[in-house]
Amino acid sequence: MLIPLFSVAREVQSLRKELESAVAQVFDTAHFISGAEVEKFEDEFAKYCGTKFCVGIANGTDSLRAALFALGVKPGDEVLVPAFTFTATAEAVALSGARPVFVEINSDRDYNIFTDALNDAVTSRTVALIVVHLYGIPAEMDELRSFCKRHHLALIEDAAQAHGALYKNKKVGSLGDIGCFSFYPTKNLGACGDAGALTTDNEEVVRKVRLFINHGRKTHNEHTVVGTNARLDTIQASILQTKLKYLDEWNEKRRANWKRLKDGLSGIKSLRIRTPSSNVSPSWHIFIGETEKRDALLSHLKSNGVDSGVHYPFSLVELEAYKYLEARKEDFPEAVSAASKVISLPVHPFLKDSELEKIIAAVRGFFL
Ligand SMILES: Cc1ncc(COP(=O)(O)O)c(C=O)c1O
Repeated sequence: MLIPLFSVAREVQSLRKELESAVAQVFDTAHFISGAEVEKFEDEFAKYCGTKFCVGIANGTDSLRAALFALGVKPGDEVLVPAFTFTATAEAVALSGARPVFVEINSDRDYNIFTDALNDAVTSRTVALIVVHLYGIPAEMDELRSFCKRHHLALIEDAAQAHGALYKNKKVGSLGDIGCFSFYPTKNLGACGDAGALTTDNEEVVRKVRLFINHGRKTHNEHTVVGTNARLDTIQASILQTKLKYLDEWNEKRRANWKRLKDGLSGIKSLRIRTPSSNVSPSWHIFIGETEKRDALLSHLKSNGVDSGVHYPFSLVELEAYKYLEARKEDFPEAVSAASKVISLPVHPFLKDSELEKIIAAVRGFFL
């Protein structure tokens, strides 16, 4: 058995009884769409993130789509997105009819947007910036906020990998105009299926998002806009309430595991581990390293009992889906380089001490 990269199976095992009783409660009500369980989770998650409102949504991609809808993003508009992230960030922009405009990423402290590159990317058509707290490392939000203010842009946080991460002691999801979350099962807070949420302090955004995710409904039979079906599933809401109680404890464990791995892997010349700025307390969705020998390390780890992965092997610039944008690889050397070198190691809260030691030994064994 490999040491798993993500803790889904162990989470379910450890909370089995609680999760079953949460689901059983929904069965008792036989109320499977929206309702009290969804509202309760929305209240709890808004409180957790430090925002006035939260809207439960079907998945993270739909939360980004709902955010763009609420902001009125339309064909002809441009939205800035990092050149290195999961495709959903740019996909949501493209589906709104607007043009995703890629921005280079940092070369040192993290893998987020390189703020200096924003000036070249912004045009008179730019209406918003989506920042991604990739791997659970919050971006430098003060810099991004002042850039957005200067250019009158909306600031959306794609916090799909960063539930509970802190920037200057404030939770992600409360640092821009709108926060978008995915609760895909492997995330720091994961459902038992697809799920997502959006956070904001803006009541008008909430009104529009609720229209968008529920077929543009004003009342049951009055549809005032063309929306979609992207409501948070009631059973998933009950599961998320149960797991939310453990999120801070799990994130603390991730931070301790990250430090232990980082210390254990120090001194390996051909393995680079970036140290984020002191402004942030990451939630470490995964442990990320960089090496030119990435593919060989992946198979070495597998044959030594450790599961690892690559998030992501291609920058967005290199994906066929975005060829129509005619972005040039040469303009995004940091994004392209990161995609060729990053490797994801397990850092989840269910790792045993012996497993952490085994991961360290397996990686050291490869390089030394
Ligand atoms: C950075 C990022 N954005 C958006 C998403 C999309 O979330 P979902 O899979 O719930 O649609 C993900 C999920 O993998 C993600 O990692």
